[in-house]
Amino acid sequence: MAIIFYYMFYPGMIICNTNYSAYKTPVNFKHYSGRTTVSSDGVNRDVNNFTIFFRNPKTLKFTRDYILKNFPNGTNISEFGCSMGQKPYSLLIMLDKYNKKGKYKITGYDFPEVINKARNTKMYGLTNYITEEEMLFDNINVPFLVERGVLSPAEAQELKDTFYHYFDIYKPSESQNKPQSRFSSRLKSLFAKKQKAQDNIMSINEVFEYKNLILKSNMVVKANKKGDKNLELKSGDITQIDKVLGGKKSGVIIFQNALYHILNDNIADFYNYNKSSKNISKIENLFEKVNRCLEKDGIFVIGNFTADHLYDYDKERDTRLLYQDDELLRVYDSSIIHKALYENGFVPIFYEDTEFSAQCDRRYVSLPSVWKKIKEV
Ligand SMILES: C[S@@+](CC[C@H](N)C(=O)[O-])C[C@H]1O[C@@H](n2cnc3c(N)ncnc32)[C@H](O)[C@@H]1O
Repeated sequence: MAIIFYYMFYPGMIICNTNYSAYKTPVNFKHYSGRTTVSSDGVNRDVNNFTIFFRNPKTLKFTRDYILKNFPNGTNISEFGCSMGQKPYSLLIMLDKYNKKGKYKITGYDFPEVINKARNTKMYGLTNYITEEEMLFDNINVPFLVERGVLSPAEAQELKDTFYHYFDIYKPSESQNKPQSRFSSRLKSLFAKKQKAQDNIMSINEVFEYKNLILKSNMVVKANKKGDKNLELKSGDITQIDKVLGGKKSGVIIFQNALYHILNDNIADFYNYNKSSKNISKIENLFEKVNRCLEKDGIFVIGNFTADHLYDYDKERDTRLLYQDDELLRVYDSSIIHKALYENGFVPIFYEDTEFSAQCDRRYVSLPSVWKKIKEV
């Protein structure tokens, strides 16, 4: 019996999920590194390392354009919470044609346990299953980012060509390519449960579980040495950003889809995220340090998770109206994160829709992902 799920990753998309052969997952290489236990401040805790190439594409593109316009002579770009490095590589690729002389230096930071994993292999699984990574495959005619008007076909082709300048396709061994029975049985049981409950809408937890299940690779790539000139992956905790950067300022500091690790003591809270935080003073302290580590006119880039913004859609108030690209956005602002950013000398200059509508009761909201430093604190 066919069940139709509203696919909640992207607006307006519908998927029919009865035919498991629809999942093109021949390669049993983990697409993402899952979780890692890190030891910080003497406490062991789990971090969520999920990431993909070209994630938060609108914010990424805005960041690239901002860098070119405001730092034409170059700057340092410090990306904290970079996980395995897909995001810093995405920026490297997007800046590539302007960076022949190496004026933009990108450093990705994460906990040592995560960075060691990343540096050991620099191997990445890609998926062509309705993601930002689709454009890296040959068999996709109109990739998602083109379909959504984020990139023109020519831009997508250029990014793809540049990507394969920095990455080589890796042929997995037979053992890496064995069938994914665990994956398909978990997926089947997820759908069986929903079928039994006659529920055709996915909850946020199910969206995450589903996304984690389907994101198995159908191609594996390995970074070559060409990126090493302008991109480095290093250990560094953003809460110690002043020490990590050692007084060297950056034009751009990025910490995307990661703030919830600081807001909550336990990563499990992310799934049932609180709309307040025990750790708000840690956050205020962090924003103050970020301000000090930024150059004049520098920007702080965060993610578009409601959990990163402590955005409370139950209490939303239509506080401001804002035009972006000639489009009128309604901006609801009940976030104590935004308040803390304003108090530490930042104003928002770019908004991106939440990644999953399920985060906001099946609606999408625009959340401010790029914050410009307008005064020293
Ligand atoms: C969900 S991933 C997001 C990866 C990437 N930024 C993205 O947007 O796709 C969050 C990452 O933040 C890292 N992280 C959490 N707290 C951090 C901290 N205090 N300093 C540096 N990295 C941190 C985690 O280890 C994890 O790799």
